[in-house]
Amino acid sequence: MSLIRDLTDEEARAALVLKWGETEPGVLPAWVAEMDYAIAEPITSALRDAVDRGEVGYPAFVRSGGKLGEAYAGFALRHFEADVPPDRVLPTADVTVGVRIALEVLSERAPMVLPLPAYDPQHGLGRITGREQWDLPVEPDADRYVVDLDELDRLFARGARTLLLTQPHNPAGHVHTREELEGIRDVVVRHGARVVSDEIHAPLVLPGAEFVSYLSLEGTADHAVAVVAASKAFNIPGLKCAQIVTGDDATRDRLVEIPMAQNDSWGSLGVVAAVAAYTEGDPWLAALVERLDQQRMLLGRLLTENLPQARMRPLEATYMAWLDLRAYGHDDPAEVLLRGGVRVSPGQAYWPGLGGHVRLNIATSPERLTEIVRRMAAALTGGRGGGDDGGASGAPPA
Ligand SMILES: Cc1ncc(COP(=O)(O)O)c(C=O)c1O
Repeated sequence: MSLIRDLTDEEARAALVLKWGETEPGVLPAWVAEMDYAIAEPITSALRDAVDRGEVGYPAFVRSGGKLGEAYAGFALRHFEADVPPDRVLPTADVTVGVRIALEVLSERAPMVLPLPAYDPQHGLGRITGREQWDLPVEPDADRYVVDLDELDRLFARGARTLLLTQPHNPAGHVHTREELEGIRDVVVRHGARVVSDEIHAPLVLPGAEFVSYLSLEGTADHAVAVVAASKAFNIPGLKCAQIVTGDDATRDRLVEIPMAQNDSWGSLGVVAAVAAYTEGDPWLAALVERLDQQRMLLGRLLTENLPQARMRPLEATYMAWLDLRAYGHDDPAEVLLRGGVRVSPGQAYWPGLGGHVRLNIATSPERLTEIVRRMAAALTGGRGGGDDGGASGAPPA
């Protein structure tokens, strides 16, 4: 039996207070990146034990490594064959905060390059860190999500100093290959620029692709950090504990020395959960990847049958499918789908001004995914059905 347990609608509404709680009853939530699965048993046990012993005070100071660093280093070695010294792993509240701190502390106050589409909160990071954001659109119709190196070169030549990389990519679902990353690195090094690599989705690489951390490439240690977390793969983002991985001691020391108020808000229970996930979560993660692989195949079949004109970028990692629905003639398909009983994320959130695209979260039961696509087809093609059937979402098997 799989270790992945589908939440019933009632359980999901109680557990996922944003994804389900902020979606009208009767509408199927397929938007924010949370999964409709119960969290892994080793994590719940570790959290219960921590609460029982009252470990809810401030987390320990971490100047380097600690339990969390050891746990992440072990995970990175087992899963990515990456050699991460535990004392180069620093805690932070979440990945978005870690990326912001890396920009504020390590990057010159100069424009930051953001490849589009980009995870929506990344769009605010330039503004709040006092840097201009220079967009680098990645051709939405290309078969592969490949950063245009000539354009990157031009942006750095014009004065950009940092690239915000997302590897694997949300919402494109792309896993950059070693060669692609090396191409990016060569341009960055030529300009003496920096990279902040958001690698939150690294554990969610699906069969057929291989994760390479930007930081594991030769010649990146002095100009890059990776920001990682157990939160996305293990469905625990509310616990607030991510990690900044530095490539050398000097960068680590610069981050350790920042004023406390700039990085003091990770949580004790987040540390407990992350350590449990990294050290005891492998079997659950393997089952999750197997389920997500099945879900992406199911989505492919459902689209072929119900929405044959939809184009889906190959989903190499993550559980968010980036769909081009322009053939159905709606500029804002997310709005049409909401009226049809499915809540997805609008493409414009990731690429302001881009019409006709949505991001669909497939981390749910096969029954719900089937119903989601049925409703999408009805809404987009003006057919029957879609959200007016009392909200039955197809309860997952017990
Ligand atoms: C690329 C990327 N970065 C960061 C986050 C958010 O992470 P956190 O909740 O740790 O800030 C997400 C969430 O889906 C994401 O997709």
